[in-house]
Amino acid sequence: MSRQTQAIIHADALLHNFKALAALAPTSQSMAVVKADAYGHGAVNVARILQHVSSRFAVAIIEEAIALRDAGITAPIIVLEGAHQVKECKMAYQNNCILVMHCQEQLDWLDKCPEDSRPHVWLKVDSGMHRLGFAMSDIEAIAKKYRHLLSEQTVIATHFACADDVDNRFTGTQLRAFKQVADKLGFPTSVANSPATVNFPESRNAWNRLGVGVYGGAVSTSNDVDIEIYSTMTLRSSVLAVRNIAAGEGVGYGQTWVADKPSKIATVGIGYADGYPRHCKNGTPVMVRGKRAYLAGRVSMDMITIDVTHIDNVNVGDEVELWGQNVSIQEVAAWADTIDYELMTRISQRVPRIVKYL
Ligand SMILES: Cc1ncc(COP(=O)(O)O)c(C=O)c1O
Repeated sequence: MSRQTQAIIHADALLHNFKALAALAPTSQSMAVVKADAYGHGAVNVARILQHVSSRFAVAIIEEAIALRDAGITAPIIVLEGAHQVKECKMAYQNNCILVMHCQEQLDWLDKCPEDSRPHVWLKVDSGMHRLGFAMSDIEAIAKKYRHLLSEQTVIATHFACADDVDNRFTGTQLRAFKQVADKLGFPTSVANSPATVNFPESRNAWNRLGVGVYGGAVSTSNDVDIEIYSTMTLRSSVLAVRNIAAGEGVGYGQTWVADKPSKIATVGIGYADGYPRHCKNGTPVMVRGKRAYLAGRVSMDMITIDVTHIDNVNVGDEVELWGQNVSIQEVAAWADTIDYELMTRISQRVPRIVKYL
């Protein structure tokens, strides 16, 4: 029997989440962001599942777009980092990709492409996140200078720094500043990621770029938000061994967990080489036989150890849920001092993704 460590990808939940987020913005168009292997879910899997509801997809880099083309995905693909080298302009054209250009060097590369093989581009504006984008004071001049590179498909885009926090006023500041310059340019705009689509209705516009919410991520700091987002990935493994240890015995590397009473320890076939975070502390919950059990000892490369003293009849082969419908990925992320985005995207290639419909 092969190792039972798998990421189950719930197709119906992906479809539900995308549709629910898109329905918040009926006058916008919505695209699924499938960068970083669709946040660890498998970009080809996800693009196939969503291709009838998401008329475009977004990736970070051109290689991710080409992988989708190789798998037969035909929808236009937005490349969020634009071109990294001049040759990527041609690659974008050949693969029906739209490059989001954020600096003048990229537009100069595009200018060098023969006119009949130039991809469409979006322009990105830095409205305050200070990561990528033309300065707001420059964008009008840039749009004028490179007018010949823009087309009916051009969109002016920006990205928020704090959209998951409903109380953060900086989102409003970014939006107002962006609108002032975008209005003058007269192109459609794209601003909202999935948290902004949920939390800031005024940010929904021509194209919303839906990422983590599609993947069951936390999109809001408010409990009042009226949208149900389902978990899309169950990370599961199985029990490899069960042993009883005496009070005072330590478990795992560094003996960071010590039994305070006679205890039963189950060893589970998943470790940090699979993407289960090594930073998870003692006490991180998992689910076995319908009950919560708790991490006991450091996460190793291929295994973890859990305290199952309170659970009867735990046996070799029993299924263990690391996160999913019973233990939320957000809860595990908190135990690892990180966010759900990181947990999803770090599931390694060693873990098979199994797509399941209801
Ligand atoms: C430019 C851009 N747009 C949209 C997204 C999607 O954001 P989210 O996953 O928060 O919905 C990302 C993700 O990081 C991004 O970098």
